[in-house]
Amino acid sequence: MEGPGSRLILGIETSCDETAAALVTEDGELRANVVASQADLHAQFGGVVPEVASRRHLELVGPVMREALDQAGATLDDVDRVAVTQGPGLVGALLVGLAAAKAVAWSRRLPLVPVDHLAGHVASLYLQPDPVEPPFLCLLASGGHTLLIDVHSHTEQTVLGTTRDDAAGEAFDKGARLLGLGYPGGREIDRLAREGDPEAYDFPVARVPGLDFSFSGLKTSLLYATRDLTPDELEERKPDLAASYQRAIVRALVGKVRQANAERVAVVGGVAANSELREALADAALAPLALTTDNAAMIASAARFVEPVPYPGYLGLDAYASR
Ligand code: KG4
Ligand code: ZN
Repeated sequence: MEGPGSRLILGIETSCDETAAALVTEDGELRANVVASQADLHAQFGGVVPEVASRRHLELVGPVMREALDQAGATLDDVDRVAVTQGPGLVGALLVGLAAAKAVAWSRRLPLVPVDHLAGHVASLYLQPDPVEPPFLCLLASGGHTLLIDVHSHTEQTVLGTTRDDAAGEAFDKGARLLGLGYPGGREIDRLAREGDPEAYDFPVARVPGLDFSFSGLKTSLLYATRDLTPDELEERKPDLAASYQRAIVRALVGKVRQANAERVAVVGGVAANSELREALADAALAPLALTTDNAAMIASAARFVEPVPYPGYLGLDAYASR
């Protein structure tokens, strides 16, 4: 692994409940992508418990980095710089990744690249074998954010719209909880919706001015639809409720994308894994399925377009919870 082009960027991501490490080349070639999901650990609580997440990151971050190096057949000698998510996310969780990144970079006198998690999601599009080049309109829909971003270049972007309340993924997760489905809820609703009738319930799409979104009213409609049902009725209607609920979320997302009237559209973030959304926006550039939910490949990818902080100036870097 000598010579130009073979130097690797080690990416680390711990902003929520995935502990992830990846190795990416300067050209955006993915050499390793390891994601240890804590979903099962948090499922018993119905959502992510920050303190539990931090502790689990601490246990996993070392092994996950080692596994990524093994997968790539590389050692730290091949690593050129270390990229890590600085925020937004759970601060306690972010700090574990940041401390690990500092430790690795410091021990090898390497530069460190602090990466914004949302820029990371967008950069999931920039990886080989089919990189999507800006400009494009990007729908970023995840558990924490719902944004319409005008991506001018790898480094310049303008936010055109955002959610006024819940994020799209949050709406999926909260809806799933109301239906007694597992965590994380998006995937569960997606699965169950295939057995249901999406027109069975007429859930509302919020009318929000401009390119902003709102999902809290939808969640309330689902609550009203479920609370009059007996447990048996709920069980029977669950697929229809899931299908109709998903239809309303997808309609809201697609509606705003169409309203933005962009020539080229791209979709990223955990909700970009949704099968109905992918079908509805089949003409858009969709992030590769494996890179929709949180991962470190997208963080290493984004790092290619961020100025590295040289040794040892990064030791004082702090995490941030929100932008
Ligand atoms: O991007 P991500 O992994 O983490 C954040 O940055 O928030 O997104 C996680 C979100 C969760 O809300 C999850 O329910 C949702 O993505 N999600 C889905 C699907 N897979 C994951 N939502 C709808 N359909 C899916 N298939
Ligand atoms: Zn994310």
